Formats: sequence, C-alpha cells, structure tokens
Amino acid sequence: MMSSESIRLVEVGPRDGLQNEARQVPTATKVELIERLAAAGHRTVEATSFVSPKWVPQMADAAEVYPSIRQRPGVSYPVLTPNLQGYQRARAVGVAEVAVFAAASEAFSQRNINASIEESIARFLPVLEQARTDGVRVRGYVSTVLGCPYQGAVPLADVVRVARRLHELGCYEVSLGDTIGVGTAGKARQMLQAVAAEVPMAALAVHFHDTWGQALANVHACVEAGVRVVDASVAGLGGCPYAAGASGNVASEDVVYLLHGLGFDTGVDLSALVATGRWISAGLGRENGSKVGKAWRDPA
Ligand code: HMG
Ligand code: MG
Repeated sequence: MMSSESIRLVEVGPRDGLQNEARQVPTATKVELIERLAAAGHRTVEATSFVSPKWVPQMADAAEVYPSIRQRPGVSYPVLTPNLQGYQRARAVGVAEVAVFAAASEAFSQRNINASIEESIARFLPVLEQARTDGVRVRGYVSTVLGCPYQGAVPLADVVRVARRLHELGCYEVSLGDTIGVGTAGKARQMLQAVAAEVPMAALAVHFHDTWGQALANVHACVEAGVRVVDASVAGLGGCPYAAGASGNVASEDVVYLLHGLGFDTGVDLSALVATGRWISAGLGRENGSKVGKAWRDPA
C-alpha cells in the first residue's frame, strides 16, 4: 500500500517508557527527552503522570517536569491523571491535556489502580466534567485489550464496552493497549475492528508492547485496518510496573521507519529521533530497544 496520508504517533517514552525505571531518572533528563522528541517532529509527547508517588515513584517529579518543558507550538504534552487529585495537581502547573486510564480486565484494574473498572470510571467522571469546564482535552486508555497478566484471556466484549464508555464520556481519542504484548496481528486487527464498530476509527489509537516480539506486526495490521494514531516509545523504552515481564513499547523509530516505507507521512525526522533514542539509551545504561535505532547510519 502506498499513500501520502498522515499518521500521528503519540510518543509515550517519557511516561510509559520511564515509569518502570528502577533508578530515579533526573528531572532535567526527562525534560530534555521531551524537548528532543518534540524537536524531532512528534506532535504529541506524553510527558509524565500525576499518579500517586507511592505507586509509581519514578513519576513523583511530575509537577517539576511539566512546567520545565519549553513547549513548542502545535505540540501537545498530555499527562496521565488517574483521579481528580491527579487532575488538580496537573492543572496547578498548567497542563492542557490529560489522559485517564481504564482496563478491560477487572483483575488488572485492581492491581494497577486499586479499583474495579466501574469504580475507575466513577473516578474519571469528575475529571472529565472539570476538564470540559476548563477546556482541557482528555485522552482515554483501555489496557489489557489482548490479554491480562492476572486473568489471562480478556473477552472482546469487555474491550468494546470500556472503549465505548470512555468515548461516550468525552475522551476525544481512545488508545487500545496490549499492555503485556501478547497479541498477534490477526487478533489485534479483529479487536480493533470490533471496537471500531462502536467507536469511530478516527477516535482510536493503538498501543502495543513488544514482549512477545509482535508489536510492529500488530501496528502494521491495525494501520491496514484503518487506524491513524499509533502510540510508541523512543528506543522501545518501557514496561508497566503492574504487568510483570511486560517489555517496552513498540519503538518509535521502528514505527516511523515502517510507516515511511508504506508512504505515510508522520512529520517525524527519523535521524533526529534515532539520535534521541541513542542518547536516552546511553543515559539510562540500556541497550537500545529499537532495531532501526541500532541499524541507522546518517547519510554522509
Ligand atoms: P489508592 O491508594 O487507592 O488511592 O490508589 P487513595 O485515593 O486511597 O489515596 C491513597 C494515597 O495516595 C493518599 O495519600 C492520596 O493523597 C494519594 P496519603 O493520604 O496516604 O498520604 N494520592 C495521590 N497522590 C498524588 N497524585 C494522585 C493521587 N491519588 C491519590 N493522583 C491510585 C489509587 C489511582 C492513586 C493509584 O493506584 C495510582 O496512582 N496508580 C497509578 C498506577 C500507574 O500509574 N500505572 C501505570 C500507568 S497505566 C499503564 O502503564 C498502561 C498504559 O500504558 C496502557 C497499556 O500499556 O495498556 C496506559
Ligand atoms: Mg503501556
């Protein structure tokens, strides 16, 4: 398929990528990462999470990170807010876009946010209401759409129900997350199509982790099925603290390389993105999780 259509990446490295790092990453490094990702052409860079610092210590400096970012016009810097307390902390430092996160699996919802799916949605209602009043855009996540580390299989109907609910409640976009990276292309496509029967495709995004090495294939299958927003993490950073063994997100460099190869426009300068991935991998003392990041050679 060749196309000049555009696909937007949602760069989640600074949040999903770093949240699982055991060693505290300096605030200045986080800020520099965010700024470099935006400079590379990303239009959405998820910056941090206003969650409980007891639950995710790495994100405890959210209120320092966010206001330090030199924001570029035309770029959004959403942050995760699990409840009104998180939303208010975010607003106090000027956040203009937030994300709420629910799960399709009851067991994961309990472990991740200490609430049933219904309770978590009840916590989002005041966030969504306040956001509407404040003119703040809200993105929604559904986790464990292709499997759960605690309950195993997740019925498709549960994924569809939670995604539809978040959209009805006012989330402008719903990101469908294979939190533990077990999905395969056929199942990913089927899941996306089932959700797209109830929520417009234009309001959907896909979010793959690469634990089983399927993330890029899943992205490709979902792009062929019509999705035009893809979450990804520079250098494949990531993992979820409440999903043992979950490896990084699909690497942004690999997604950009795939999409440019298909003729899509992402607005991202792959050379600058690769440089950023190499810089953060070195800084964290990690192997670069992007194949493209390793193979890339800048033209002489
Ligand atoms: P809880 O313990 O049930 O909350 O946690 P609580 O309301 O009972 O409050 C307990 C304490 O936390 C209180 O403090 C609150 O003030 C404080 P204390 O009185 O004990 O000193 N607290 C907060 N502090 C700062 N900011 C807040 C906040 N809320 C409460 N917003 C809670 C419930 C939701 C807070 C907790 O479970 C939590 O923060 N969970 C976050 C988990 C998380 O961040 N997971 C990773 C992100 S999800 C993900 O990675 C998946 C995704 O990438 C998609 C995919 O891959 O599928 C999105
Ligand atoms: Mg994730």
